[in-house]
Amino acid sequence: MAGSHHISRRDFIKITTAAVGTFIGAAIGLPSIAFLIDPALKAGKTDAWIPLGKLENFEVGKPTLATFTRSKANGWEKTVNSYGVFVLRKSDTETLVLSNRCTHLGCHVNWNADKQEYICPCHDAQFGINGEVLGGPPPRPLDRYSGDQLKVEDGTLLIHFLEG
Ligand code: FES
Repeated sequence: MAGSHHISRRDFIKITTAAVGTFIGAAIGLPSIAFLIDPALKAGKTDAWIPLGKLENFEVGKPTLATFTRSKANGWEKTVNSYGVFVLRKSDTETLVLSNRCTHLGCHVNWNADKQEYICPCHDAQFGINGEVLGGPPPRPLDRYSGDQLKVEDGTLLIHFLEG
């Protein structure tokens, strides 16, 4: 009876070796697992500061299109999306940045210098120079970047972009 809980020296060595083996396996395995799930973690990150270019290069009074791309990882699948914003320097101290995405169904608007309007080619909507709706089906003005969504660093204009 007393011997039922007795662990022989040989068994003890076996158990200890198994435990050490498991520990080493875990130590080797952990970084590999972190590496495997890393793209998935990155996929959750959907905001960033996007540089649009040197502020001085945007002509005062003229909306200018700036484009950029964002890549998204979903597991191992990578997609690249293109975005555009219109930068309008109103003066040396005031800059307006508008999304070029129509608020109706998402087509890209174009700036029409003759009419001084943004025109959406999909359903003929018109937006004013500040993004307000002048005509057509859009339910609201063009999305704008203002306040703490805009900054200038070393002369470069950046927007705080949220990917939706
Ligand atoms: S998507 Fe622009 S008016 Fe419909």
